[in-house]
Amino acid sequence: MKVHRMLVLGGDGVGPEVIAQALRVARRLVERRALPLELVEAPYGYSAWQQTGAIMPPATLDAVMSADSILFGAIGGEYDGVPMAVRREGSVLRIRRELNLFANLRPVRHWPALSASCPLRAAVAAGTDIALVRENTGGLYFGSPRGIETLADGRREAVNTQRYATDEIERVARFAFELARTRRGRLCSVDKSNVLETGVLWRQTVTALHQREFADVELSHMLVDNCAMQLVRAPTQFDVVVTDNMFGDILSDGAGAIAGSLGMLPSASLGSVRADGSRPALYEPVHGSAPDIAGRGVANPLGAILSFALALRYSLRLPDEAERVERAVATALGNGARTADVAGTGEAALGSQAMGDAVLGALERLGS
Ligand code: NAI
Ligand code: MG
Repeated sequence: MKVHRMLVLGGDGVGPEVIAQALRVARRLVERRALPLELVEAPYGYSAWQQTGAIMPPATLDAVMSADSILFGAIGGEYDGVPMAVRREGSVLRIRRELNLFANLRPVRHWPALSASCPLRAAVAAGTDIALVRENTGGLYFGSPRGIETLADGRREAVNTQRYATDEIERVARFAFELARTRRGRLCSVDKSNVLETGVLWRQTVTALHQREFADVELSHMLVDNCAMQLVRAPTQFDVVVTDNMFGDILSDGAGAIAGSLGMLPSASLGSVRADGSRPALYEPVHGSAPDIAGRGVANPLGAILSFALALRYSLRLPDEAERVERAVATALGNGARTADVAGTGEAALGSQAMGDAVLGALERLGS
């Protein structure tokens, strides 16, 4: 069996702290479940800059380009004295662009044990299990022309451009249809086709692809403003949701609240399947480097651990092992393990390491 080479980048702030716990889970599975997985760590972030003058040293960039997948913590923070150009060179956007990671998957689920941290009533949120797919390399965030200029009469004017071509829509929709086939077989495509031409083309392209290749998947369409409302009114109606870059950015943050804390949310960014069947992929918790709590060992590592579970599912193609990790997380929470971000009033808060212990303990009881 081919050994999967996973590059591990802790990054800045709480990144290395949460990734350390994900690595403990990964190493445990390699040991006990004989996973064909090799974990390779590389320097990335502010400390890499202090040592080498580059946020992403050339050897790290080489490793990014050649790895089978990447497990990443977070990057960002004060960056005193680092020139803007050097910062841009090392940004995670660069990784996403170099690897053309056009599909951003953010699963959102309700954790019964965290009902008290969820802003929605348990009766509304219970059972929520949504795979939100955001187009990640096109649309309003990349379109040109863009800029701010001063007009002849002295007023200033800003412009951004939303532009989508059929192939860009098709590849992210194909990813979402394929994902729906592995889940409950339903896809909701979200657009603003009542107002925007990009929305009209989005809907036509998704519909045509559905008829051509995915008639077995149940497809529905929803306008984005209604979707924002439906996500808080009745989130259990959704299985897979696919939408453009900006709508996905906004809807996924809103939906993320259902999980109870930013620290609970995992993500996967995926590219096109290559000729040899492999697919570039970056797995990272949704949260950033959290400088306000970094260095204290209190960050919630579950988003990072769940990101590793996504890698097991989508890169190593080991859904049973992914489920094992997700069950261990649910079990640890069910047993009352809480980091500070999800602890209720009067509940004792564990540090990152102790939460890692709780997940490893749960894995042990699940037979690994
Ligand atoms: P953030 O996600 O780092 O923090 C937002 C709030 O959530 C903070 O109060 C933080 O303490 C809390 N939080 C975040 N992760 C947590 C965890 N695992 N456990 C417990 N609490 C947690 O977002 P913020 O403060 O806007 O950005 C901080 C830095 O992170 C910035 O430099 C930003 O650019 C960077 N960032 C990097 C990302 C990435 O690497 N992909 C994504 C988002 C932000
Ligand atoms: Mg956002």
